[in-house]
Amino acid sequence: MSERSDLQGRHIVLGLTGGIACYKSAEFVRLLTKAGATVQVVMTEAAEAFITPVTMQALSGRSVVTSQWDAREPNNMAHINLGREADAVIVAPASADFIAKLAQGRADELLSLLCLARPRERCPLLVAPAMNREMWSHPATQRNVATLSADGARILGPGCGDQACGEVGDGRMLEPAELLEDLIAFFQPKLLAGRRLLITAGPTFEPIDPVRGITNHSSGKMGFALARAAAEAGADVTLVAGPVHLPTPRGVKRVNVMTASQMYDAVVPNAAAHEVFIATAAVADWRPASLSEHKIKKEGKKVAPTFELTENPDILAAVAALPKPPYCVGFAAESENLLEHARAKLIRKRIPLIIGNLGPATFGRDDNALLVVDAQAHHALPADGQPTDKLTLARALIQELAQRLQAVQA
Ligand code: CTP
Repeated sequence: MSERSDLQGRHIVLGLTGGIACYKSAEFVRLLTKAGATVQVVMTEAAEAFITPVTMQALSGRSVVTSQWDAREPNNMAHINLGREADAVIVAPASADFIAKLAQGRADELLSLLCLARPRERCPLLVAPAMNREMWSHPATQRNVATLSADGARILGPGCGDQACGEVGDGRMLEPAELLEDLIAFFQPKLLAGRRLLITAGPTFEPIDPVRGITNHSSGKMGFALARAAAEAGADVTLVAGPVHLPTPRGVKRVNVMTASQMYDAVVPNAAAHEVFIATAAVADWRPASLSEHKIKKEGKKVAPTFELTENPDILAAVAALPKPPYCVGFAAESENLLEHARAKLIRKRIPLIIGNLGPATFGRDDNALLVVDAQAHHALPADGQPTDKLTLARALIQELAQRLQAVQA
């Protein structure tokens, strides 16, 4: 994905407490600033045992604050000033001890002091725990984390895996890229809060024999961007993905499939439990009528083999034909006469909304230009028709979808 500035204009206070994961915070600062944020680093004394303020200053471009007695503040009230300027305070890594301190509302050094003193209604607190698995699973820590959540803090992670101590389990801090994705999502409007969305993405692969098959150029990027944008908007998202090498957006449930039939089985029986179904997948229309058990050999053949094809089930049409279908959104990848073909598909598949795009111009690319078509009207997205990156488009589509859902239910 091209470089984005999703945090442009945001001012973030990043608090570091004592933990080996401080090394990840250095990378996190870089990602935050690359995403457009300004970052003020605040470190506890324990954090300074793991990484120096010099490193954090160089990466953030600002002097690091470590003490509430910092005489550089004209009014000597760093704990008040820092929270008033910030759009969010994020503590990463947050040690077990620091979480305990926050849960109790203690304030014996600058970072906990500013967390307590910040204006809670406009400066949220996000906490990324980082500790050994036994410390994380300890009832005292779990109790403290629950208290912190109940007090309005957002807990990010922790992740699971290898730990610095050599053990394996829950408690490691999320990776910097994951923290960034969670923070960006945190700032997105929750237009689909509590809604259940089902999305298909990518190509399907229809095997001919154990080593060959029929597929297409769909990269899955648009569907994955939509899944991310929907999750950012607060939806509960299940993404049924054909064979693509894309990371799963944070918070999205992913079901991997290969063939159109597998995609059908993963989607149709579950579709009614969702409020929205978005079919971005480029499903192969046909598959070989029979699958060769062994590789079809060239050796000894005078003429090239021919294959009989059989039609795949239409997943979108099947979902739209359910007795109580979710709100169905189709995609039409065309090479010409976009509006005409898109509208014909809308009618044929009996769906309320279809998104047209020019397949050859978008497959595999990071940007796209869409045509939003319903039974009465159509409009370009973006409005000027100029290709825009797929995540920006996906967020705009999610916004439009949220409005349409409201209108349907009004
Ligand atoms: N679709 C589907 N199942 C299929 C074929 C298509 O769910 N077996 C969905 C796609 O995910 C997309 C929409 O239907 O949302 C349009 O797909 P497309 O292949 O462009 O439409 P077809 O009906 O196959 O029309 P044609 O191939 O003639 O363009």
